[in-house]
Amino acid sequence: MYHAPVLLQASIDMLRIRPDGSYADATFGGGGHARLILEHLDEDGHLYAFDQDPDAQKNTEQAVFSQNPAFHFIPSNFRHLKRQLRSEGQRIGSMDGILADLGVSSYQLDTAERGFSYRFDAELDMRMNTLDGPRASDVLNTYSAEALQQLLSIYGEVRNARTLALACVERRNAQPFATTGDLVEICGKIFIGDRMRYLSQVFQALRMEVNDEVGALKDFLTDSLEMLAPGGRLVVLTYHSIEDRLVKNFMKTGNVEGVLDKDFYGNITRPFELVLKKAQEASAEETKANPRARSAKLRVAQKSEK
Ligand SMILES: C[S@@+](CC[C@H](N)C(=O)[O-])C[C@H]1O[C@@H](n2cnc3c(N)ncnc32)[C@H](O)[C@@H]1O
Repeated sequence: MYHAPVLLQASIDMLRIRPDGSYADATFGGGGHARLILEHLDEDGHLYAFDQDPDAQKNTEQAVFSQNPAFHFIPSNFRHLKRQLRSEGQRIGSMDGILADLGVSSYQLDTAERGFSYRFDAELDMRMNTLDGPRASDVLNTYSAEALQQLLSIYGEVRNARTLALACVERRNAQPFATTGDLVEICGKIFIGDRMRYLSQVFQALRMEVNDEVGALKDFLTDSLEMLAPGGRLVVLTYHSIEDRLVKNFMKTGNVEGVLDKDFYGNITRPFELVLKKAQEASAEETKANPRARSAKLRVAQKSEK
């Protein structure tokens, strides 16, 4: 299976789909969420599905997508949401709901040659968009020790980030990084705490940097607010604390800085109403069946009517 969708029914219920409405799925992946959205749409409805991974695009060849006139695939980074939806004929403020199920798919993690996982020895790539951009090996081979330390510490919460950054620079001076195995070997010499947890943190940090995940999420959230109609819903599934904090603060304030704005009279303005006051998590049953659901947090906000 390409990817087992997480919190599937709950996230689709939260969209409150109107059969003739316009919706975006920013992270198509294996199409699990998209398929269920389409089941709710009639011939006047629209679903715009984004994915930057050409492998995910292959899933759109299934008849349920390719033969449904409501379905439109956009092979793009979701950070261009507004520009892409506008070129599809959608106006600012016209979308009824926007969904994002962030991070990587099980397919990406489990396909050795994509280089996302320390479980396999493969090229150190980690790009979701395999057609463009620097690979993880480029990051390790070209960033300064300070920049490496910073990304390991901020994105991966790696406790000995400086030691690892310096070890990476020393290693690349002898021989540049090429494979996941090269990185696993360095980590094996200096990890602290649990080895697997340490490797997960290091690989996550690099993946976030390679794909500029925080930058893309900020652009996406800002575009979403503009593209949603009053009463339209933003539904986001996050998998780690950095993206979750960003989404939570955005939904509270309407900006990526997370700062409350005031109007001319000094009243606090809130572009969203929170539909869920607290993030919803997967049930014990779902987590047992799909360990990836363990870290999932579902956050939902509705654009204010004013
Ligand atoms: C967790 S999976 C989505 C799974 C999907 N909901 C399903 O049911 O199969 C995330 C997907 O989003 C894509 N993705 C992540 N960040 C993206 C971005 N900035 N722009 C476009 N696609 C992105 C990944 O390539 C991946 O296929």
